[in-house]
Formats: sequence, structure tokens, C-alpha cells
Amino acid sequence: MTPELMEQGARHAEAYRAKQSQRQGQTASGGRSAGFARLAPAPGEVDVTHGRILYLEDVNVSFDGFKAINHLSLDIAPGELRCIIGPNGAGKTTMMDIITGKTRPDSGQVFYGSTIDLLRFKEAEIAQMGIGRKFQKPTVFEQLTVFENLELALKTNKAVTASMLFKLDSKQSDRLAEVLHTIHLADSVSRQAGYLSHGQKQWLEIGMLLMQDPKLLLLDEPVAGMTDEETERTAELFLSLKGKHSLMVVEHDMSFINTISDIVTVLCDGAVLAQGTLAQVQADERVIEVYLGR
Ligand SMILES: Nc1ncnc2c1ncn2[C@@H]1O[C@H](COP(=O)(O)OP(=O)(O)O)[C@@H](O)[C@H]1O
Ligand SMILES: [Mg+2]
Repeated sequence: MTPELMEQGARHAEAYRAKQSQRQGQTASGGRSAGFARLAPAPGEVDVTHGRILYLEDVNVSFDGFKAINHLSLDIAPGELRCIIGPNGAGKTTMMDIITGKTRPDSGQVFYGSTIDLLRFKEAEIAQMGIGRKFQKPTVFEQLTVFENLELALKTNKAVTASMLFKLDSKQSDRLAEVLHTIHLADSVSRQAGYLSHGQKQWLEIGMLLMQDPKLLLLDEPVAGMTDEETERTAELFLSLKGKHSLMVVEHDMSFINTISDIVTVLCDGAVLAQGTLAQVQADERVIEVYLGR
């Protein structure tokens, strides 16, 4: 999550609500399209009765004729922690760009639960619907304390104008305390984020995402640059999130993947090359050829 996106999200949601309430009662476009034009569904409304929180089907994206995503199909179960590996340029980040609305595919389907067509929504709306994204570089507010960073993450769901008067209610305070504990930063609550270690900043940013209780979390190379000890703690953190949230984790660190993974998907040339347990994909000749090396 970037600060820019957080602000944009709040602004956009407000503008969107205003637009929608103006539209109420106008049925010129007919019942069906009027239904699609409603406010982005709240995170609790995701229909996972079919056993999938995320579903990509035959997705394609080209950049200047180069097929970055090539007939990609993939799905994630609710509460699953899915690991994604693959060589540089495989399309891992682009896949996350598509899920989060940053990049529009040329064709294909992207569904959140069985009813929400993500291709109909903008980036900020998708974030509001409970899909949180963590980019590789930590983007916390360095001048603010750990507490203030987490508090700010809650405010993005509120009207910007009200945020000056924003006070945590008891439920939000409880949530903040819980998140602080989860991300191992309870002892650093008053520290300025700029003084945290790289790993702690990464955890803080994950905490900021958790404040909004996302259904699905996308994490792009979360342990890059971390010490071994930080990596181990991050593995524990992710394992504790599994079940409560669905996670898609892109990583190159195989010992980290080994600790956290159930199913590993190998992407190559914009498509799924192999999928299975880490042991299964590591034994796959094609995976060894393109990624793991001989
Ligand atoms: N906005 C873009 N414009 C042009 N090419 C892009 C863009 N985004 C990604 N690509 C290209 O698409 C391919 C996949 O990139 P990416 O998704 O970043 O791979 P990965 O994250 O697996 O390393 C790369 O060849 C990259 O150069
Ligand atoms: Mg990448």
C-alpha cells in the first residue's frame, strides 16, 4: 500500500458514494446495469461458497506486443496461503497488478469470490473491497510513530474530512492492539517508524494492511533484504495470518517458502508452469530447467 493510494482510495470512495447517491432512482440504464453500478461490495460480501476467493481464467496482457501474461488461469481458496515462485520477468508482479486493478488485462476473467468481477472496478475500489497489497519496498510514514501509522491506516476507510476529528473507538483500539501484537511491534508502539529496521518497517506496513482486515493479501517479495531472524519471524507471522486471511506470497527465498507453503505455483512466461507442494515442483524437470537450475 502506498500513501498515495491510501489517500486516493479514501477520496475515490467518497466521490463514488456521492455519485452513486445522485444516481439513485435513475433506471434509464435498466435493472441489470443499474445493479452493476452500485457501490463496490464491502469485504464481508465476498461469496466464497464455491471454495474460491480469487479466480483468474485465461488472462492475457501484452505490453507493446510482448505477452507478459499468457493464458494465465489460477485460483486461491479462502484462508489459503499460496506461494508463487518463478524466474524474473515471469509475470508475478504483473499478475498482482491485474488483481489489484493497476493493470487491465487484454482478455480473460478475474473474479473475487464467485460474484465480484474485479475487472469492473478501479484500483482504489478493489482495495476497499478487502484486497490488500504489499509492494516490495516498505512505504510507511517515517515521521510518524508506529501507533500513528496504524491509526492512519484505519482512517483511509473514513471520509477524509472527518479524519481530523477521528478518534479510535474501543473496537478499533482493540484491533490496533491485536495488530501490534501480531506484527511483533508492541514494544515499539511510540517509536518513530523511520528508526525501525528494514524488517520492522515491512511488518508495520503489513500491520497497516491488517488494520483494514483484508480478506485477501498480496505480498510481493516480503522477505527481500531481511536478516535471517527477521525472515523467520515473518514466516511465523504469515503462518499466523493463514486461515484468517487468504494470502498470495511471491518470493525467491526457498527456505522461507519451505517453511510457509502448502501449494506452490510456478509462473513462467506469463503462465502456470507447475503447481504442487514445494517438493513436487522442485522435482519437476521443467521447473529445474527454467528456474531452479541444474
Ligand atoms: N508496464 C509495463 N510495460 C512494459 N513491460 C512491462 C510492464 N510491466 C511489466 N512488464 C514486462 O512484463 C514482464 C513481466 O514482468 P513482471 O510481472 O514484473 O515479472 P516478475 O515480477 O515475475 O519478475 C517483464 O518482461 C517486464 O519487463
Ligand atoms: Mg516482480
